[in-house]
Amino acid sequence: MKYPFIVLLLLSSFLQAQQLKSPDGNFTLTFSLGTGGKPLYSLTYKGKVVVKPSGLGLELKGDKTSLLDGFTVSGVKNTSFDETWNPVWGEVKTIRNHYNEMEVSLSQKEPERLLVLRFRLFDDGLGFRYEFPQQKNLAYFVIKEERTQFAMAGDHTAYWIPGDYDTQEYDYTTSKLSEIRGLMPKAITANVSQTSFSPTGIQTSLMMKSADGLYINIHEAALINYACMHLNLDDRNMVFESWLTPDVKGDKGYMQAPCTSPWRTVIVSDDARDILASKMIYNLNEPSKIKDTSWIKPVKYVGVWWEMITGKTTWSYTDEFPSVQLGITDYATAKPNGKHGANTANVKKYIDFAALHGFDGVLVEGWNVGWEDWFGHHKDYVFDFVTPYPDFDVEGIREYARSKGVKMIMHHETSSSVRNYERHMDKAYKFMKDNGYDAVKSGYVGDILPRGENHYSQWMVNHYQYALEKAAEYKIMLNAHEAVRPTGIARTYPNLIGNESARGTEYQSFGGSKPNHVAVLPFTRLLGGPMDYTPGIFEMDLSKLNPSNTSHVNSTLANQLALYVTLYSPLQMAADTPENYNRFLDAFQFIKDVAVDWDDSKYLEAEPGQYVTAARRAKGRSSWFVGSVGGYEPRTSNITFDFLDKGKTYIATIYADAAGAHYKTNPQAYTIRKVAVTSKSKLSQFVAAGGGYAISIVEAGKEAAKGLPKL
Ligand code: NOJ
Ligand code: CA
Repeated sequence: MKYPFIVLLLLSSFLQAQQLKSPDGNFTLTFSLGTGGKPLYSLTYKGKVVVKPSGLGLELKGDKTSLLDGFTVSGVKNTSFDETWNPVWGEVKTIRNHYNEMEVSLSQKEPERLLVLRFRLFDDGLGFRYEFPQQKNLAYFVIKEERTQFAMAGDHTAYWIPGDYDTQEYDYTTSKLSEIRGLMPKAITANVSQTSFSPTGIQTSLMMKSADGLYINIHEAALINYACMHLNLDDRNMVFESWLTPDVKGDKGYMQAPCTSPWRTVIVSDDARDILASKMIYNLNEPSKIKDTSWIKPVKYVGVWWEMITGKTTWSYTDEFPSVQLGITDYATAKPNGKHGANTANVKKYIDFAALHGFDGVLVEGWNVGWEDWFGHHKDYVFDFVTPYPDFDVEGIREYARSKGVKMIMHHETSSSVRNYERHMDKAYKFMKDNGYDAVKSGYVGDILPRGENHYSQWMVNHYQYALEKAAEYKIMLNAHEAVRPTGIARTYPNLIGNESARGTEYQSFGGSKPNHVAVLPFTRLLGGPMDYTPGIFEMDLSKLNPSNTSHVNSTLANQLALYVTLYSPLQMAADTPENYNRFLDAFQFIKDVAVDWDDSKYLEAEPGQYVTAARRAKGRSSWFVGSVGGYEPRTSNITFDFLDKGKTYIATIYADAAGAHYKTNPQAYTIRKVAVTSKSKLSQFVAAGGGYAISIVEAGKEAAKGLPKL
């Protein structure tokens, strides 16, 4: 048989490897079919191996052949894309989305099936996903496991938290990949809902550093209608394999073609600062589906919260009920416990404080009935999200807040009773709008109901998405705690202004977090979206709030200030109590001044787990803010102010650790000084163990800066 030359050429090229380069040429992605028609990919950066040849594919339930091998290449299409887009809120005003793409179509015989692999290579890394086109022999299918491999080129240093189907609220462990197994038991600290699955199972976003100086991050983007991915390490060969979160039956995904997987992402650089600046995960998400975004606004807020977290006051109203049944339990006759935080007078005090200091919002938790036994019993009907406690005057508070120009922020603790929340969601969101609440903090504490479901299964991912899209219908901004880790979905639904989905400040009251925790988060959790970390704690000795709380906040006060810049979020809380802020009003000034939305961001210094220094320019203003956090060791931070406009003079107010400051022994020792700076200025600044510094930089005429010391 004779084939035309062109067909032979095409055939031979399909048998060979396919290569794709990033726009700047630094990355090379290679795709090939291995023995038995098994799809393989590998990745290099500046000639160094990042991912060795690694398998791709999926194992399907009840399917002998699966989507693992037996493939031939039926088509390869290369395209390029270059656009810029403006986020509704963000670290920068404009984001460039620039990549080269390769679409590889794969065919299987008996049964005849099609699988498409789409690779996108950016200047900051690789994204790829599986696509399942509509076809006769793959209409409905159940995923047994996704078998995407990431074969590492060495025994890298990793900054990891244990893989878990139900919680992300762990401290990071820094170790070699080969040490994960040995360190796992210690890394799994207690949580009210947790399910670990493997001694070498860890979570994404995973940060690593290779011996030859490459910074490598593995995560996912656009997690929609799919189970959240963990990574399981073959620690003999240093090969990670995807490990999806199962549902109650152990199944890992119910799919209907046409559909896609989320993107699997590998961000790489030889400069750690580039990892922090990467927007690749957002770029792999769809543009905003919300047309009118004028109602989405960054929020700086205070709240009736830390006092409950520390145990100074309570969410519950009474101590009389061993259990509560909504509609039956009669709160009107119950004796108040005298410690209920969300009482009208206390809430008004927070509203006054917010109004006095220019905050946008006040969050109140424990305002609604049901908190007396809200988790631990697999209760279905825990909260109704609309009925206040007798001492919380919804209308009075609404009018008081309105008169003071402050927005109330709603709290919906679902207690993980998800069906109950969905049942009440419309009423609850409507109640919010009727009472002047434009933003909600939701939460998913405890084991999921329906029983056996996991926090990060496909079913739950779909719930979080449902809550988000429904919130958008009501023009409500959402900040979900304990929800699945974000994967850049805020590009598509910018009303997702925050998530917790990691170990936040609350753990400083539950025994403390590692002092370098905040120097890891920007490299991991924050790549997928902003975190409601709730910084701003000024009193580190929590027995001062509650004599029986022996926990200590492992951070200096200056470190707490820096977090407003280093942990980017359009939603930032000043988490401590008004009383504690009133004791340190000079330092509190930084929290009042700092912006929550930005036109530009520069990462000046970065090393995972050791330090992060960021400078950001406030949206629509010439003011800049700098934040720097350290880790376990004291250090000297050296920065130049070359991000400032040339030829202009600015006044910088520097809030820093005083000599002798230390996160444990001397956390409140800080200094504040004012200096004149220009784009030529340089700063050499002491950072204590667990410390940091924050700078606010305001443009000033030369006259105004006269008499101030120069840097
Ligand atoms: C856990 C959340 O992270 C915390 O912020 C909240 O106060 C409690 N759940 C109660 O809902
Ligand atoms: Ca939490």
